[in-house]
Amino acid sequence: MRKLALAILATLALAVPAGLPVPAIAQDAAADAAAEVDRSATGGAQTLEDILARQRGEVVDDSFRRSLIGDGTAAGIAAQLGTLGGESDSEVWRALRYGHDSVTVSAGGDVARNLIQDGGMAWYQFREGPLATYGGYLLLGTIAALILFYLLRGKIRIDEPMTGRTVTRFAGIERFAHWMLAGSFILLGLTGLVVMFGRAFIAPTLGKEANAVILSASKIIHNNIAWPFMLALVMIFVMWVWHNIPNRTDLTWFAQAGGIVGKKHPPAKKFNAGQKIIFWSVILLGGSISVSGLSLLFPFELPLFAKTFTVLNDLGVPGLLGIADLPTQLAPQEEMQLAQAWHAIVGFVLMAIIIAHIYIGSIGMEGAFDAMGSGEVDEAWAHQHHSIWLDEVKAKEKEAPAASAPAE
Ligand code: HEM
Repeated sequence: MRKLALAILATLALAVPAGLPVPAIAQDAAADAAAEVDRSATGGAQTLEDILARQRGEVVDDSFRRSLIGDGTAAGIAAQLGTLGGESDSEVWRALRYGHDSVTVSAGGDVARNLIQDGGMAWYQFREGPLATYGGYLLLGTIAALILFYLLRGKIRIDEPMTGRTVTRFAGIERFAHWMLAGSFILLGLTGLVVMFGRAFIAPTLGKEANAVILSASKIIHNNIAWPFMLALVMIFVMWVWHNIPNRTDLTWFAQAGGIVGKKHPPAKKFNAGQKIIFWSVILLGGSISVSGLSLLFPFELPLFAKTFTVLNDLGVPGLLGIADLPTQLAPQEEMQLAQAWHAIVGFVLMAIIIAHIYIGSIGMEGAFDAMGSGEVDEAWAHQHHSIWLDEVKAKEKEAPAASAPAE
């Protein structure tokens, strides 16, 4: 097992530098070249080359635009700017951009009224660059860290001999909700990764046709599996929230580093502090992914960010972080771009957390899987990892020896 883990670790180490795209870096040389572009054919206005350079992510020196405003050369570009020519009215452009204008459309609703939005390129570059790169590194880094942890610490064993007596850790309904949550999340994660990395990894290896088929299937699965995930999230929340309220035993757990390092096993109720972190991560991050996912599932119907940014600005959050106020006027398309970016960022973070959870719930800890498999755990395991909970269960059994209901 350790040899296999070492082999995977070595493969990851090689794959990380080679396999992932790096963020686009501004190229000064390209900016110099753009400044020398011959614009006589467009009367001094931007050329196709300027547009293409901007789309390639190069820094385009657009000072030539300002030098045109208001002087005689503006006449040359009047046809492109409309009736105001070079004397562009910023209020008009702003109204067009944010939908305050008097434009009417016969089809397409509010979104079609929006004639200008300039966030597309920035969003595209963020998605192809930092999002894909750092998201990928986060997942591969988490897997590498867990393999390293396994090699250093090994499996967490049950210290005392098994007693042969078992207690019910999770009832059928709890296991049903957990596996619905787990199954749907794994499918959502895998199909989400396919949609994000398909063009970079599947298209060059299996071809564009195969990529198209795999991506469309992934999109259908992703959009539909979101519903069981949300249902399971609500079930898990309702059933386990009372066991996940922080209390004093959590401090002992943290003080002893959860018994993960060293030999001590801190006392715990039904869930220890580490599990509470997993629970609240799943609820809060899973909830946020669900809300932004709904916004993406019903395009333009559930804009989230302009309102959220207004609240954050009012609370003074940007000031605390030392950044400028967040934009509170957003085009409908920009709302969608932000929803996608947020959905993916939070998705990557939760995937990394869940990879660690899957490790500890399966190969990382002896006897843990039974809790979610059969629902029954040996008393030796329960005593080692959840001693207060075991005592409570046994006390209840004594109070009502005839009752056959599951513990808790
Ligand atoms: C193959 C995948 C998975 C395995 C083997 C697994 C295993 C387990 C086990 C054994 C427990 C009970 C631990 C105990 O008795 O104390 C548990 C609890 C839990 N699982 Fe999973 N799980 C998996 C996937 C997931 C996924 C994908 C999610 C959420 C998206 C999730 C969320 C939870 C939560 C919130 C708990 C309660 C808190 C905790 O024990 O950490 N699980 N899981």
